[in-house]
Amino acid sequence: MPRVLFFNQTGLYGGAERSLYDLVTNYPGHCRVVLMQAGPLYDDLITAGVDTPVLGGGFQRATRRKWITLTIRLYSPIVVAIGLVRLSRGYDLIYANSMKAAVIAVLTKPFHRRKMVWHLRSLLIPEHFSPLARLVARWCGNWGADLVIANSDATARAYQSNGGKCLPVRAYNGFSIEKFRPEKRAELRAQLVVEHGLDPTHPIIGMIGRIGPWKGQALALLGLSMGTDWQLLVVGEALFESENFRQDFHESATRYTQTCNVFCLGHRDDIAEIMGGVDVVIHASTLPEPFGRVIVEAMLAGTPVIATNGGGVPEIVQNGVTGRLITPNSATALATAIEAALRETEQSRSMAVAARRYAEQHFALELTLPPVWQALRTMAAQSDGTENAPAVAAGAHESSIKG
Ligand code: UDP
Ligand code: GLC
Repeated sequence: MPRVLFFNQTGLYGGAERSLYDLVTNYPGHCRVVLMQAGPLYDDLITAGVDTPVLGGGFQRATRRKWITLTIRLYSPIVVAIGLVRLSRGYDLIYANSMKAAVIAVLTKPFHRRKMVWHLRSLLIPEHFSPLARLVARWCGNWGADLVIANSDATARAYQSNGGKCLPVRAYNGFSIEKFRPEKRAELRAQLVVEHGLDPTHPIIGMIGRIGPWKGQALALLGLSMGTDWQLLVVGEALFESENFRQDFHESATRYTQTCNVFCLGHRDDIAEIMGGVDVVIHASTLPEPFGRVIVEAMLAGTPVIATNGGGVPEIVQNGVTGRLITPNSATALATAIEAALRETEQSRSMAVAARRYAEQHFALELTLPPVWQALRTMAAQSDGTENAPAVAAGAHESSIKG
């Protein structure tokens, strides 16, 4: 197996970092992870025994003085770039797990001279990125990356529509399915009720995920106010947003908490248990979601799921078979779907059973990781100069998968 240096911009946990953790801790060869910032991901990797240097962590903060902030902003990537070149010695390839990591890895390619893999986890579409950002992404993919991996077909298509020359290898996120226990749903619900002082006779709706402008929490609050006795658990934190956004969100959540049955639990690590304890999981992103880990997690938990139809989501949920897909950006559509999911109990239950089965068959780590390892092997074996060659195909995988 090639010696891989994984490179990521943050040490906080978004879905990309959850996926990175699984990639790294199951990698069947030698690897190292370089982060631009410490955080829980760093702590977990160190605990798992992974060599994880952090670069530039002390240069992240903004100050009130604009010129100091600007100097830091310019200085920080240079420090990271020099560090990356130094740390990549002895590795066969650099695996950039985020857009910023990819840009730095491409810019420094003449110095590190390693092959580069870009795991693209964003939809390169105008709704998500400015023209300049899409131009940079195009350049990165066409002139720097030797292999592009996309987290859904939708992400791969958007990459090509943005001018990307290669066809990315599509690799879905994988999950440790044994963490999810659908047979324990009643017990998990009872635990949630006690822990948060919920009314056990009223429906419990879960909205789990990073809080962000397009993640749909505001829409969910609005949708919830259309039901009379629904209790909404909002789980997650505004990890990558500005201080203003955080304040605005928390103020409006507090207002809803006082008038409706909304419970903001903040960031939680016991997601499998929460997913299993609620009656319905809602995903309400207002812009197309590149993949959407939380949807698969709800399916694995055996909980009826409602998700926004867009991006990679229809690759996960088949409407009316494994869940309910709704039109984006409509609080009414969301409320109607919640109402249907609660009323049509038999249908919801059989869809949840089908969803669990489908998720087991398509999104288990054992299934999703081998094609990635195969793609890396193929790419590393190609002689220099064969850039942008798509390498697809599942291959034999000798290591066992850790949960
Ligand atoms: N998550 C978590 N704790 C929280 C909120 C979210 O562990 O409090 C996890 C969630 O279970 C999922 C990931 O964060 O695995 C979010 O990934 P997703 O792909 O849904 O969205 P992203 O935040 O990456 O856009
Ligand atoms: C990104 C995307 C999300 C995806 C995750 C893991 O954070 O926004 O949709 O599930 O990466 O690939």
